[in-house]
Amino acid sequence: MAEVGALRVPPTVLIGNGLVSMLGRVAAPLGRRVLLCTDELLASGEQGRRALAALRDGAGLDVDVLDAAVPELPRRSVEAAIAVAQRHAPDCVVGLGGGSAIDLAKLVALGLSVDVPLDQFYGEGHVPGPTVPVIAVPTTAGTGSEVTPVAVLSDPEIELKVGISSPHLIPRAAVCDAELTRGAPPQLTAHAGIDALAHAIESYTAARGTPPEDLVARVFVGGNVLTDRFALHAVSKLASSLRGAQEDDPAARADALEGSLCAGLAFGTAGTAGAHALQYPLGARTNTPHGLGVGLLLPFVMAYNRPACEPRLADVAEAMGLERNAGAAVDGVRALAIDLGLPASLRELGLERSELAGLAAQAVGIDRLARNNPRTLDLAGAGAILDAAWRGQVEDLQEHYE
Ligand SMILES: NC(=O)c1ccc[n+]([C@@H]2O[C@H](COP(=O)([O-])OP(=O)(O)OC[C@H]3O[C@@H](n4cnc5c(N)ncnc54)[C@H](O)[C@@H]3O)[C@@H](O)[C@H]2O)c1
Ligand SMILES: [Zn+2]
Repeated sequence: MAEVGALRVPPTVLIGNGLVSMLGRVAAPLGRRVLLCTDELLASGEQGRRALAALRDGAGLDVDVLDAAVPELPRRSVEAAIAVAQRHAPDCVVGLGGGSAIDLAKLVALGLSVDVPLDQFYGEGHVPGPTVPVIAVPTTAGTGSEVTPVAVLSDPEIELKVGISSPHLIPRAAVCDAELTRGAPPQLTAHAGIDALAHAIESYTAARGTPPEDLVARVFVGGNVLTDRFALHAVSKLASSLRGAQEDDPAARADALEGSLCAGLAFGTAGTAGAHALQYPLGARTNTPHGLGVGLLLPFVMAYNRPACEPRLADVAEAMGLERNAGAAVDGVRALAIDLGLPASLRELGLERSELAGLAAQAVGIDRLARNNPRTLDLAGAGAILDAAWRGQVEDLQEHYE
């Protein structure tokens, strides 16, 4: 039987240099009142100026600016932003920024639509219906949040960051303009870019064969024929561009944004897996950025997964422009992460080896990510990945292949 496919994406996705100038035209059909949701840095910078010019001067819209996005999005800051947004009563929310600002826009739109405490929506599929429409304008090539059904925040009552996932959180439109990513600092570019590569590789190698009823009922349904196309294209664009993007080369910036967008189109339906499951507790314990943890862990997770997805990892290697061989994909991702300046081992983050078992237990408990891993991610497996990553020895997980 032919394989099934599933894809949930925004109705409008635009990508191209300079296209932020079209933002007003994209927003105008949704109503006159726009809330531009961003952070202080971007609101006062070139990105904010160009977005405002497109909305106000380009389309004559009535725009309020909410520059309330902060890293990690603590729940209290999100609730305060929702309270401010309620006074503006916008017809649409534009999210301008990295994953944090776009996720805030999604949460503000949700809070404007349903007056229920945010924790009622934690997890998958609890948003009851459409929200105020969101238009997402990324300024980092990374999270893919401009097209995905998830928003991530932190809640002091819960140790790990929490996600709210629902097809109703998929933005109405994504406007992707690589000019807005220029000038982003090298470290931000590296962390965001390697996160995007992880989205692509984890979607392409994710568990498959979701039963038809789950294709409808679940938000993240595993790898399938449709997400595969975007995932492999993303791998090829990201692997060839991230080094140049870090040097702010304009063509590389454009390729990196195309790659992160396509990775978002893939993982927004397929979901991610082991590297993301392990990053959540690691990020909480070490207070390190999402992309740093995911990028450091990714080659170790790939090496662990190799027996379950050898041919797919060979496809990844080929898309990266390497010899068509699973081991080359693992080594290529590891070399890229190190070239981009990521730490080579978990030990460098100040972790004690004795802490790894606790992190492994937390990771395998994140069911939506653990069950999406192509090889069973049990306590022993998660522990082996973390131990090899702590020592910085990916060969230990690879060696029986050589
Ligand atoms: N919703 C999703 O699908 C999804 C997926 C992955 C990660 N995330 C979340 O996204 C967040 C990370 O997002 P991020 O990596 O894009 O970073 P970010 O949004 O947290 O931004 C980090 C910093 O970079 C600055 N910045 C953004 N663009 C810039 C630019 N062009 N030039 C200079 N500075 C710029 C911001 O002002 C901010 O200070 C994490 O909280 C993560 O949990 C969400
Ligand atoms: Zn990620």
